[in-house]
Amino acid sequence: MYTPAFHYDSADDCYIGGQFWDGRVNSLEEQAVKPFFNPLEMNITNLSMFISKMKGADFYSEFIKIYGESNDEQKILNNVGDAIAAFERSAEVNPFTSKYDAYLKKTDTLTTLEARGLKVFNGVGKCYQCHLTSPESKSAKVLFTDFKYHNIGVPRNPGNPFYKMATSINPAGEAFQDLGLGGQMKLQTQNGKFKCSTLRNVAITSPYFHNGVYKTLEEVIHFYNSRDVDPSIDKPEVNENLTTDNVGNLKLSLGDEAALVAFMKTLTDGYKASK
Ligand code: HEC
Repeated sequence: MYTPAFHYDSADDCYIGGQFWDGRVNSLEEQAVKPFFNPLEMNITNLSMFISKMKGADFYSEFIKIYGESNDEQKILNNVGDAIAAFERSAEVNPFTSKYDAYLKKTDTLTTLEARGLKVFNGVGKCYQCHLTSPESKSAKVLFTDFKYHNIGVPRNPGNPFYKMATSINPAGEAFQDLGLGGQMKLQTQNGKFKCSTLRNVAITSPYFHNGVYKTLEEVIHFYNSRDVDPSIDKPEVNENLTTDNVGNLKLSLGDEAALVAFMKTLTDGYKASK
């Protein structure tokens, strides 16, 4: 909900904001209605089919109490987007009740390992350079993202079922390359770039990266630390516009890697202090 609308930032010469990994829509309202019609998601083939499903749903009476009756199909769809976006903006989805939030409020303390992880995150690990740990100006919340697009060199996920799909859906077959923002904008200078994720609740949102190539935070951290020096790490899916100054050869120890994982586990909402 804190993601700004997609825009070009001339001061930083980069694109910022927008929804989806490639920023293809601007608002939560627009995002919310897309999956209904995506053939890979809910695959509803037209608006009338969507409306008849809505009218048949047991929550439809609740829905019209708020939005009123209408025969305007586009208006009903827009109202569905509005309702989902309102939920996404609620405190239920944005509670800020992690151990890290308690630590910021000084109502709890981090363990030695977690504190070491935070130090690495904000220091030699360079994570904070994209996953910002300074409060965002409007919300005053630490959101762990700059909302910008980067190609950090995520490898192809050979297990992605998309490669094996019918040519009507994936004409390129095994040769498919996800160009991210560059594909969406048809702009080569943006190829391979994806929106920087928040790290809030990241311990409970495996698998990781836009294509789900890694299952564990340990693998993700090891990738950041050693992308350019560990030959067992697969090559980037898109080898253009690669970030090299703060990713790939961080020279972190195994202890630092473990500490980063411990720190990321403090970002899960619903933390109750143990006493
Ligand atoms: C150059 C900017 C940049 C830096 C530096 C960076 N990240 Fe990221 N991070 C990203 C981007 C962009 C993504 C999404 C990439 C994708 O999926 O293609 C991401 C994704 C992640 C994810 C997966 C989130 C998810 O939900 O899938 C984790 C975990 C993560 N970063 C942790 C870290 C840690 C820990 C560090 C420091 C060691 C770090 N990042 C440094 C930009 C960065």
